[in-house]
Parts: sequence; structure tokens; C-alpha cells
Amino acid sequence: MRLRSSLLALALGLAAFAAQASEPIVIKFAHVVAKNTPKGKAADYFKQRAEALTKGAVKVEVYPNSTLYKDKEEMEALQLGAVQLLAPSLAKFGPLGVKEFEVFDLPYIFDNYQELNKVTQGPIGRELLNRLEPKGVKGLTFWDNGFKSFSANKPLKTPADFRGLKMRIQSSKVLDAQMRALGALPQVMAFSEVYQALQTGVVDGTENPISNLYTQKMHEVQKHLSLTEHGYLGYAVITNKKFWEGLPANIRAQLEQAMKESTEYANKIAKQENDESLEAVRKSGKTTIYTPTAAEKAALKKALVSVHEKMDDRLGVEMVQRIYKETGFDPSKL
Ligand code: LMR
Repeated sequence: MRLRSSLLALALGLAAFAAQASEPIVIKFAHVVAKNTPKGKAADYFKQRAEALTKGAVKVEVYPNSTLYKDKEEMEALQLGAVQLLAPSLAKFGPLGVKEFEVFDLPYIFDNYQELNKVTQGPIGRELLNRLEPKGVKGLTFWDNGFKSFSANKPLKTPADFRGLKMRIQSSKVLDAQMRALGALPQVMAFSEVYQALQTGVVDGTENPISNLYTQKMHEVQKHLSLTEHGYLGYAVITNKKFWEGLPANIRAQLEQAMKESTEYANKIAKQENDESLEAVRKSGKTTIYTPTAAEKAALKKALVSVHEKMDDRLGVEMVQRIYKETGFDPSKL
């Protein structure tokens, strides 16, 4: 009798263990952009690689287009452990208390992806990601998107054209200063609300890499797009530190490999995705695309680079100087 019951207990125990072992670890990955963007595609690629490398031990659920959380909510949800992966724009880390990330918002600080990648894929990038840890957040990697252009319902050629315009921005004080330097009125707003705000005239204009403008159909409610490429927008992929460190070591290593491959993929497709979106906007015929002349670009640059000095205290002058050194940016040469 006793033998029978202990055999039964053993069998039940084994069954419970087997059920547990076959139950995949679920990772929710939420983001705010469309699936057919650099970030949307990279998130789907990560899902595919993570599930393949862990042989199904991990299941990744990707929630695009703010379907799970909007900008501000997603950071809080990550800290609470309600979502495991996010890739917020670097302009959205101020509210978390890590304002140094706004260094990426400084107008014209990067001329191209090569300069940017020296920072994101080098020691400065790693150091910035490490600064998230006291917030219970682990920074895994950086993913590229692209260079932003301004849009509105009027042509935007010179700094004077921006005066008095209500411009939607992400939650970054550097972007706030940038719009004010042009005499515009910045308004912080969640990405999910921008299309409607532009459509109804709550704001007059905005700035975005073209992949975001096109996939949110903003070009349908903005008559003019000026290819200013005055600043950069990209992402840090982040996770809940406790969750990540609590994963079995072999699974974590496989996920790190999947993340490495996804970063290569993201950074390979980013420029092409933005170029294709620009072509699609052009083809739609819904907005007038303007390329500023060299003189107009110089005037805009002159007006906007004043923001760098104003933001030194917020970002830390040492950090700004280190990035200048990495990219070769020299404000005195303007
Ligand atoms: C925005 O809010 O404009 C962007 O950060 C959206 C995104 O994630 O690319």
C-alpha cells in the first residue's frame, strides 16, 4: 500500500515536472510602430530567431502599433514585469530618469549611420545601456531607425517658417529646446495619437524618419515634407533586469545570440526601409516633398546647433564631448 502511494506520488511529480519543462517561457515584446518599419521587422525577426535558437523553449509574442501599451505606459509596464521586451526611441528615456539618452536627439550630431554606429555599437553605447540598471532595466542593444525630417501643412524652408507652429515631439527636453530654437511650440504626445492630432489640427506638424511618417499615414494629413534630416531617431532594446537575470543561463545565452542577429538585421535594413518609404510617399502624391538648398540647410543648422550648448548641463558636457570626438562633430566649424 505504502509502495503504491509513493509510486503514485513519484508519477505525479514526474508529470508535473514534464508539464513544467514543456511549458514555454513567454516573452511579450511591445512596441508602438507598424510591423513594416525597421523596428517592427526587427522585432518579428527576433521572435523568429529566439524561438528557433531555443527550440521552442521560448515563445515571443510581439505586440506592434501600441496594441499593448502606449509610450509612457510601456516603460512602467516593463519595470513592473508586465511586459518583458521593449524598444523605445532614445528620446523617451528622460521620464525614466536616464536623461543622458537625449544626447542622441541633439540636432546634427550624427551626419550618417557610420558615425552613429561608432557610438551605439561602441563603449559609449554600452556605458549608456549600463546606466539603466539602477532603474531595474537592462539595456540589451541599440537598433537603428533613421534621420528625421520636418512636416507641416506649409512649406518649411527657413527657420522663420517654423515660427508659431505647434509641433509634436517625443518626451525629450532636447527636442523641446530644438523646437523652441526655431520659434515653434513643442507639444509632447504619445506616438499613437499623432495621426489624429495632425488630422484635427491639434498640432500643425511633426518630425519623423520617413518610415514612421509613411506607415502611420501622416503624409496624408501633412501637405508638406521637408527633407531636413536634422536629427536622429533610433532605439534601445530593453528588458526587465530581474526577469532577464532569472532566466536559465543557456536560454539567456540563446536569446542574447538572437538579439545579436536581430541587431545586425535591424541595422542592415533601416536605411533601405526609410528610402523605400520616401519613394512610397512620393508616389502617393499626397504631400509635397521639398529638398532644402545648401543655404537653407546651413541656416537651419546654425539655428539648431545652439541647442547643444544649452543642453550641456542636462546631458553632461563630458558625454557630449566624447560623442563629438567619436563622430568628428565640431561646433566651432559651423
Ligand atoms: C515617435 O514617438 O515618434 C517614435 O519614437 C516612434 C518610434 O518608436 O519610432
